[in-house]
Amino acid sequence: MPQKTKKRKTAGKKTAKPIRVGVIGVGRGQAFASGATDLVGMKLVAICDTWKERLKEVGKRYGVTTYTSYDRFLEHDMDAVILANFFHEHAPFAIKALEAGKHVMSETSCNSTLAEGAALCSAVEKSGLTYMLAENYPYTAFNMEMRRLYQEGEIGDVAYAEGEYNHPMPATSSLAISPGLEHWRNCIPSTYYCTHALAPLVFITDTMPVKVNALSIVHGRDRTQTVRRGDSGSVILCRMSNGAIFRLFGGGTAGHSIWYRLHGTRAAMETTRGPGYFGPEQIRVWREEWRLEPGEVVERTYKPDWPEHADLARRSGHGGGDFWTNFDFAQAIRSGKQPFLDVYRGVAMSSVGILAWKSALEDGAPFDVPDFKKKSSRRAYADDHWSPWPKDAGPGQPPSSILGEQRPTKEGLALARKIWKEIGYHGK
Ligand SMILES: NC(=O)c1ccc[n+]([C@@H]2O[C@H](COP(=O)([O-])OP(=O)(O)OC[C@H]3O[C@@H](n4cnc5c(N)ncnc54)[C@H](O)[C@@H]3O)[C@@H](O)[C@H]2O)c1
Repeated sequence: MPQKTKKRKTAGKKTAKPIRVGVIGVGRGQAFASGATDLVGMKLVAICDTWKERLKEVGKRYGVTTYTSYDRFLEHDMDAVILANFFHEHAPFAIKALEAGKHVMSETSCNSTLAEGAALCSAVEKSGLTYMLAENYPYTAFNMEMRRLYQEGEIGDVAYAEGEYNHPMPATSSLAISPGLEHWRNCIPSTYYCTHALAPLVFITDTMPVKVNALSIVHGRDRTQTVRRGDSGSVILCRMSNGAIFRLFGGGTAGHSIWYRLHGTRAAMETTRGPGYFGPEQIRVWREEWRLEPGEVVERTYKPDWPEHADLARRSGHGGGDFWTNFDFAQAIRSGKQPFLDVYRGVAMSSVGILAWKSALEDGAPFDVPDFKKKSSRRAYADDHWSPWPKDAGPGQPPSSILGEQRPTKEGLALARKIWKEIGYHGK
C-alpha cells in the first residue's frame, strides 16, 4: 500500500524567492511557461527554441530572454529547466541541464532508449538535484480521488487495472503538430506514448511495472491522409510489482477516450464512461452485496473535486494537470525531496513503451522491465541503444510499424506539404 499523501503547502501565496524557470519548446512548453507564476512560487525567466519566428513571438508575449541555442540558454541565471522539446530527445537535454546545476522537469518521455534511461538515473543521483516527469493525467480530480480511496484501503490490493489514452485527430490538425517527415509524431511506434495511460494507475496504486508484453493495432490508418509510419494503436499488458496485471490501450483509433478502472481484492472503482472523452468525471465504486462490511454500500457514484487548490486546477489545462505538475515540481525543489513522479518511476514507465515495442515486433513475447535503482541493471543496459528513431537508424534498429518500414503515400505527402506551408514550416 502506498504512503498517505503528505499535507501539501499552500498555493496562491507569494513566497519570498520564486524558483527561476526556463522552458525549452514553445509548443507544449507554453503550458508550463504560462503556469510558472507566483501562484506556484515560480518565475519564468527564459525560453529556448530553434524555431526563430515562433520563439520571437512567444518571447514577446512573456517578456523574457529568448535563446535558439540550448547551451547558451543553460548559461542563463536560473534554478530549473522544463523540457518540452522533442519527445525522443529529452534524456540528453535533461542530463546537460543537471550537469549545469539545474533542476529538471521533463515532458514525456524521459528516455527514448534503455541506455538513456540508465544514464539519466545515474545523472540525477550524481547531481543531487530534483527531477520530475511532467505527467499531467495523474492529477485530474478523479485520479487524485482514486488515489485517496486506494490509500485508505477502499478496494484492497489492486489485482487488475485498465488505463486508456486514445486520442484520434483530424488529418489537418495531426499534420499541423507534426511538421517534417522525421518529426517524432511521424515516426513514433504505437506503444511509446503509454505514460498517459499508465502513470495515473502507478500514482493511484504505487506499484511498478516489472514485465510487459504488447500487440500493435494496424486497422484504421488512412495513409493518404497522413505521413505517419507507425500503427494506429496498441494494447500493452504490464505485470506489476505486487503481481497485478494492468492493461493499457492507446493511440489514435476512433473514439477519443481517457479512462481508468481498478479491481482490488475488496472492491472496484473506475471513472464512469461518456459523454466526452473524460466522461462525466465521476467515480463509481462498487462491491459485492455478500461481502459488505458495516457502513459499506454496494455501489456509489459521485463527482469528486481536487483535495485542495481546486480553483487553480480548474483554470488550467488537461483536467487540472497543467497546474499540478508545476506545483509539485516547485514543492519538490523547495523540500529537497524527489517528487512522486521521480526519475525511477518516469524511466520505468517510459521504458514500458520501448519494451512493449520489442514485444509487439515479436508478436507479444514478454520482456522484463529493468529496475534502474540497481547499479547492476544500469550497467547491463548501458549499451542498449535499440531505437526506432531516424536519427539512430542503422543495422539492427526496428521499424515503427509491425508491418515493416512504411513510406508516405503521394497523397499523404502532398497534404502534409500543404499544411506545413500554411503553418510556416519550410523544412523536409
Ligand atoms: N502532457 C501533455 O498533455 C502533452 C501535450 C502535448 C505535448 N506533450 C509533450 O511535449 C513535448 C513537445 O511537444 P509539442 O506538442 O510542443 O510538439 P513538438 O515536439 O513539435 O515541439 C517541440 C518544440 O521544441 C523545439 N526544439 C526541438 N529541439 C530543439 C533544440 N535542440 N533546441 C531548441 N528547441 C528545440 C521545436 O522547435 C519545437 O518548437 C513532447 O514531448 C510531447 O510528448 C505533452
